[in-house]
Amino acid sequence: MSRTIGVGVIGFGTVGAGTIEILMKNGDLIQRHTGFRIELKRVADLDTETDRGVTLPPGILITDAKALIADPEVDIVVELMGGYEPAATFIREALNNGKYVVTANKALLATQGWELFETADKNGVSIGFEASVGGGIPVLRSIREGLCTNNLNSIHGILNGTANYILSRMTLEELAFEEVLKEAQQKGYAEADPSFDVKGIDAAHKIAILSSMAFGVKIPFDKISTMGITEIEQLDVKHARELGLVIKLLAISQWQAGELEIRVEPVMIPETHLLAKVNGVYNAVHVMGDFVGSTLYYGKGAGRRPTGSAVVGDIIAIARQLTKGEAYDIPPLGFPLSSFQPAVLKDSEEVKGIFYLRMMTADQPGVLSRISGILGENGISLSSVIQKGEKQEPVAIVMVTHETTQRQIHNALRIIDDLEIIRRPTLALHIEMDLK
Ligand code: HSE
Repeated sequence: MSRTIGVGVIGFGTVGAGTIEILMKNGDLIQRHTGFRIELKRVADLDTETDRGVTLPPGILITDAKALIADPEVDIVVELMGGYEPAATFIREALNNGKYVVTANKALLATQGWELFETADKNGVSIGFEASVGGGIPVLRSIREGLCTNNLNSIHGILNGTANYILSRMTLEELAFEEVLKEAQQKGYAEADPSFDVKGIDAAHKIAILSSMAFGVKIPFDKISTMGITEIEQLDVKHARELGLVIKLLAISQWQAGELEIRVEPVMIPETHLLAKVNGVYNAVHVMGDFVGSTLYYGKGAGRRPTGSAVVGDIIAIARQLTKGEAYDIPPLGFPLSSFQPAVLKDSEEVKGIFYLRMMTADQPGVLSRISGILGENGISLSSVIQKGEKQEPVAIVMVTHETTQRQIHNALRIIDDLEIIRRPTLALHIEMDLK
C-alpha cells in the first residue's frame, strides 16, 4: 500500500520540537515498522519566529490550530501545547472530526480525561497518551499490555523529574532547597512557575492516570492527598541519612479489598531500596502484580527527546491501527471504557504508618515532656527521640513513632504546633520501611 499517514502537531515547544526531530530523522525506521510513510503535514504555534533547532519544510508552520485540525491530510492530531484551554477544545474538535489524537497533557487527562475518552469512543477513534507519564518510559504500554494478565496491587513512582532533581542534590551535595530550585530554573529543568512540580500536583496528575489504567477505575483527582517538597530542609535530609533513609517524593497507589489508597508526598525510604538510587531528573515506577511480582521501569521523565520518543511511539501505534484495522485496537486505558466505575478511596487520615516528626522548639526545661505528653494522649507511641541541640534556638527535636494513623498525627500536631514553645510548624513524613 502506498498511503501515507498525515500528522499535525499543535505546540512547537520543547516536546513538539523533539517529536518533529524524531519524525524527520527516523522516518525510514518508522516506515519499516508500520509499512507506511508518516508525514508531518502541519505544525501550529502562535510563535513562528523562535529557532527550535529543527528546520521545517516551507509552508508547514502555521498559527491556526483549527485549520490544522480541519486539514483533510492530517489523520493524527498531536496536542503538545499543554494546559487546559484551548488544548481541551482542540482535542475535542479533532476527535469530533474523526481524527486520532496523541497528547502529553497529563493535567488535562487527569482532570477532564473521561469526557475526552468518551468523545473519542463515540467517534470511533482513540487518544494516545504515553508521553503524559514518565517521559520516555513506556510504562503505560507495559501496564496496558504486558501486565494485563495480573491483578495489580500497587504502584510506587518517582514521577516528577524536577522534584527528584532537587531532592537528589539536597541529598548528595547537602544543598538547600531554594538554592537547588534556583539552579534548576536557570538550567531549564524546572518550569518558570515550578509550583506543580514542587507541590506534588504534577506527580498527582500522573499517579491518577497510572491508577486508572492499573486498577480500571475512575480517580477523582481532587481527592488525592497531595503534599510537596517545599517544607523539606537540609536538616531533614541529614536526619534521614542518620537513620539510613533517603527522602523521595513518591506517588503511591495501593489497591486493597476494593479500596484504593492514593497519595503523593515526600517520604523516607531505606537507602538500600532501588527507588532510593533513582537520582536527578530520572523517573522510576514500581508496579506489583499478583503473578508477575515486582517490576520496575526507569528512564528520563522529562525533556525534548525522551518525551518526543513516547509521542512518536503513540503515533506509530495509531498508524498500525489505521493500517491493520481492529486487530490492533487495544483500548487506550487497557479496560473497555464502559467498565470504569469511580474508585472507592481510602480515607487518607486512616492510612497507618511510622512517622518522622521534626519539631523546631524553644530550648528550655520541660519541652520534651510536654510534647511527648500530647503525643501519648493521642495514642501515639514513640520508638526514638533525638534532640539536636546546638545551644542555639530553635532546637530540632526529631521523633520516630511506632505505627499510628495520619489522623492521630494531625490531631496531636494541631495542639503541639499551637504551643508557645514551638517556633515553626512541625514536619511529619511517613517512613516507608516495608516498601516492596
Ligand atoms: N515537569 C515535569 C517533571 C516534566 O519535572 O517531571 C513533564 O512531565
